[in-house]
Amino acid sequence: MLDRLKPQSPDALLALIKLYAADERADKIDLGVGVYRTNEGDTPVFAAIKAAEARLVAEQDSKSYLGPEGDLGFVHALMPYVFGDDPTMGGRIEGMQTPGGTGAVRLAVAVAKQAGVTAIHMGTPSWPNHAQILSDVVIDFKPFDHANDDGTANIDTVLQVIRAASEGEAVLLHGCCHNPTGIDYTDDQWDAIAAAFADSAALPILDIAYQGLGHGLDEDAYGIRKVLAAVPEALVAYSCDKNFGMYRDRVGALYVMARDADGLPAILSNLNALARASWSMPPDHGGAAVRVILNDADMTAQWLEELATMRARMRRVRDRLAEAGDVGSLDLRPLGHQNGLFSVLPLSKDQIQQLRDDHAIYMAGSGRINIAGLHQGNIDKFISALAEVTG
Ligand code: LMR
Repeated sequence: MLDRLKPQSPDALLALIKLYAADERADKIDLGVGVYRTNEGDTPVFAAIKAAEARLVAEQDSKSYLGPEGDLGFVHALMPYVFGDDPTMGGRIEGMQTPGGTGAVRLAVAVAKQAGVTAIHMGTPSWPNHAQILSDVVIDFKPFDHANDDGTANIDTVLQVIRAASEGEAVLLHGCCHNPTGIDYTDDQWDAIAAAFADSAALPILDIAYQGLGHGLDEDAYGIRKVLAAVPEALVAYSCDKNFGMYRDRVGALYVMARDADGLPAILSNLNALARASWSMPPDHGGAAVRVILNDADMTAQWLEELATMRARMRRVRDRLAEAGDVGSLDLRPLGHQNGLFSVLPLSKDQIQQLRDDHAIYMAGSGRINIAGLHQGNIDKFISALAEVTG
């Protein structure tokens, strides 16, 4: 029976990791999968995580099961960073730990479907796994254009989509550092989005996987907080994989805001049942390390400093690209006001292949580049390679 299965192509983004590793050219540049890199091209473990892990090893007295909700100490410690001064919105928000942001999005979509959502609107391009998850959960995906050609967010369309959405529909938005475009809504645009949701029957699903990599923790949470203040219900998928550098440890959380505190237990019981049937309970280690950091003032200060260093370095790379201005047929200026790890360059498939073959530069087939893959030692080579293939 299993021989009936048709071969599937590997996930294109993850396949790029192997292609890059197999390339023996010394000056190769990896702009593929979304991991932060230092000016030396490394992705080190955060010092704050190392310290928290050392404490965990010394103090953890059991690895016995928790439950489908995972480490609630971790889930709750994160909430003030995500939701601000009233992190439970008067007892209406609760969360659970998930295996990375992917687990959180998967659970959000699955529970929305269980609650009667039949279609999800989402701006495209988006993180390719969003569409894969929607397809796997079997829910109707209604795409709309996320961005304008000039590198700004297509606010009119998203507002129309939210206003026109009916009961039984959800709208999925990226909280900050849009993946893949880096094109975020401005604060004024978030105000308008929140007002549109207030007048709409649509359920907001907000995915925030890069908090702190844009302009700062509070700044990057502006949109989420605005929307939550305006609506009765929402789902928020969160990832610590990037802002704590925990990628392979899979550290995420799904938060739900209910109409009122009394409504939370029923929703959480559905989430617990879905999690139990999917992964039983999330991997513990990464979430526990994040909890240790957030419960210790010195470790928290160290983490915030490391995050600020990452943010500043990515901003410098963006500034340098923007300064280059017109490069071949490209205008790199918009990259200067985009945010986070990613931007998309309007390159053809052939140009992307040529960059790989002739210059050992690896990027996603969509033209998405990982800004953090660039540094002082390779950015000039990257800019001249772009000029050559597009000139
Ligand atoms: C990315 O978009 O590169 C990251 O979110 C990693 C992933 O899981 O796709």
